[in-house]
Amino acid sequence: MELQIGGLSAVYLAKEYGTPLYVYDKQIILRRVQELKEAFPQAKICYAIKANSNLHILQLVVQQGLGADCSSKAEIEIAELAGFDMKKSIYSAVNPSNDDLKKALESGIILNLDDLSIFRRLQKIGLPRKISFRVNPGFGEGKFPGIVCAGEDSKFGMTEERAAEAYRLAKENGIVHFGIHMMTGSCVMNEAYFEEMTKAIQDIAVRIGNKVGIEFEFIDIGGGFGVPYEAHERALDMKSVSERIKRVFTYPANLVMEPGRYFVAEAGTLLTTVTTMKGKFVGVDAGMTTLIRPALYGAYHPIVLANNPSALFTEKYSIVGPICESTDCFARDRDMPVVHEGDILAIQVAGAYGFAMASQFNGQPKPAEVMVSHGIHTIIRKRETTEDLIRYARH
Ligand code: LLP
Repeated sequence: MELQIGGLSAVYLAKEYGTPLYVYDKQIILRRVQELKEAFPQAKICYAIKANSNLHILQLVVQQGLGADCSSKAEIEIAELAGFDMKKSIYSAVNPSNDDLKKALESGIILNLDDLSIFRRLQKIGLPRKISFRVNPGFGEGKFPGIVCAGEDSKFGMTEERAAEAYRLAKENGIVHFGIHMMTGSCVMNEAYFEEMTKAIQDIAVRIGNKVGIEFEFIDIGGGFGVPYEAHERALDMKSVSERIKRVFTYPANLVMEPGRYFVAEAGTLLTTVTTMKGKFVGVDAGMTTLIRPALYGAYHPIVLANNPSALFTEKYSIVGPICESTDCFARDRDMPVVHEGDILAIQVAGAYGFAMASQFNGQPKPAEVMVSHGIHTIIRKRETTEDLIRYARH
């Protein structure tokens, strides 16, 4: 039998919509959202829309009552369009422009600033009643060095001392509601880490609170929940992660979290057609422009022969794309069944930071996206055309 996604044949979908094609199983997204809501009934959950900001996916998340975590002016605008409640959403930007800050302020979203200097810039634009600052605790964790977002050499957040200064300044300027934020890394599979990190930010909150004479209304532990990509990886037990966090989280504040990957990664599959067989190289029509994670981080994604998923692995292939870069490689010397021209390969766990990081390099219009649910398929983003590559250069 052919590979099934949401009750439909992946090969059928590839023929119907063409490839490369992102397909999302709506039920998996809903299940992941439900799982987190049940594991953390006391938490305010803001979906980090950078992971996948397709409007239809965002609307689905809105229906589940979540807020949004936005990182730019455009993400705030898209979140507003999708219907997110801005008062339940947070803006965690790094090095934002004044234009972005102005938009954030006007939208009513909670501002979470990455540096004291950004507060000074904000003073000239206007001040909200509530503010949060991002602290870098000096350590971080993530599946790849490129997705660790804290530590001595990291551009993110500020030291505890500098954050205390920022809160002091905010207090002097009449701000009365405070939150504190930390996002130390992505795709963390170590359950104990969430406990350590929560304890660390809480300790920091207590010290800053005492020093500055403020109380925090929320503590935001960021995102970072990992999902298994490789056969040997075990999914996080969210109940146990929740227990661990609950054990240390005693501060009388709301717990906020901003997961991105967790909701959408496993729901997404990238379908691609084999165009070329050249020795051990299997050439496909998707490339690093469609899914950059393998090229950028050396990330592993499972790859399945969609037209015969149970075929025995007898070959070793390198699966490569059409881009003029040697890093345009989804898998090197991967155990695979025999593959032929015209076969459909399914690159799995591609729903997070897949389409979101796609580019048009080498004249690659971005792929289409399709949502499937219980055997029904709906296009949720049209495939780009050559016209889309030149539209803004026309005068
Ligand atoms: N909050 C903030 C402020 C963030 O910067 C991020 C992700 C998240 C939340 C969501 O983190 P998550 O739950 O998805 O781990 N492109 C990389 C991931 C980079 C994550 C950057 N920040 C990848 O493909 O693995």
